[in-house]
Amino acid sequence: MSAAGRVVLITGAASGIGRAVAQAFAEAGDRVVVADLDGAAAERAAAELGALALPLDVTDPEAVAAGLERVAGELGPVEVLVNNAGIVAGGGALVDLPIEIFDRVVAVNLRGTFTVTKVAAAQMIKAAKGGCIVNISSIGARQPTAGLGHYEATKAGVDALTRTGAIELAGHGIRVNGVAPGPVHTPMTAGLMTDPAARGAWESRIPLGRIATPGDITPLVLFLASPQAGHITGTVVQVDGGQLLV
Ligand code: NAI
Repeated sequence: MSAAGRVVLITGAASGIGRAVAQAFAEAGDRVVVADLDGAAAERAAAELGALALPLDVTDPEAVAAGLERVAGELGPVEVLVNNAGIVAGGGALVDLPIEIFDRVVAVNLRGTFTVTKVAAAQMIKAAKGGCIVNISSIGARQPTAGLGHYEATKAGVDALTRTGAIELAGHGIRVNGVAPGPVHTPMTAGLMTDPAARGAWESRIPLGRIATPGDITPLVLFLASPQAGHITGTVVQVDGGQLLV
C-alpha cells in the first residue's frame, strides 16, 4: 500500500502505536523518522528499524522547526506526517482537574499536532509534490468517559484541525485524515490493562469484545497515507471494535 521510499515522520514513535506505525512504514520500504521526546528510546527504535532518530518535543516550536529542517537536510522534505505523540497525564473530573494538567495535555496533543503540521505542511507545499498527514485522534473525541474530559477535548480539537487542514491543503495535493482508536494495549494504558476489573470494564464496552493491539491500528494509517486513498481527505475513521455504536 506504500509508495515506497517516501520520507515519513512519526511523532511519539518510540513507543506503543507510534512504534508500530514506524515499523510498518519501514517494512514497506519508506524512509522513516522516529521523532520522540524520549531521545534515548527514539535512538533505540530507530536503530532497530533502520530509521532516523529525531529527539523532539512537539510542545517546543523552535525545536520542531529545527528538527524538521534537519530531516529535510538529511533525507529530504517530509512527505508523510503522522501526528501521534499524545499523553493523558492523569485524570479527574472537570471540577477537580488541575489547570496545569489541562494545559500540559493541550500543549502536547493539540498544540503539538498544530505545530508539527504547520512546519511539515510548509515543507510539503514548498516541495510541490503533495503529501499526506494522518492525525491519531481517539473515539474519546466523540464518546465521553468521566475523568478524561481534558484528553477528549484535545482529541476533538485534533479532529477539527484534520478537517480544516484537509480543505486548506487540498489545493496543494496534501491529504489530511484522522484515525480514532478505542482502547489499545500500549504503555499508555498498561496500568489499566493490568487491573482485571478496569480491563473488564473497558472490554464490556466493546461489541467485538477485545481491546485493540497497535497492529489493529497500523494498517489504516498506512492505507490513509497510500496512493490508494488518493480521494480520501478530511475523514476521521474509528478503529474501536464497534464501541462508538453502543
Ligand atoms: P505511548 O505512551 O505508548 O506513546 C506515546 C509516545 O509519545 C511516547 O514515546 C512519548 O515519549 C511520546 N511523547 C510524549 N510527549 C511527547 C512530546 N511532547 N513530544 C514528542 N513525543 C512525545 O502512547 P500510545 O498509547 O501509543 O498513544 C499514541 C497515540 O494514540 C496518542 O496520541 C494517544 O492519545 C492515541 N490513542 C491511544 C489510545 C490507547 O488506548 N493507547 C486510544 C486512543 C488514542
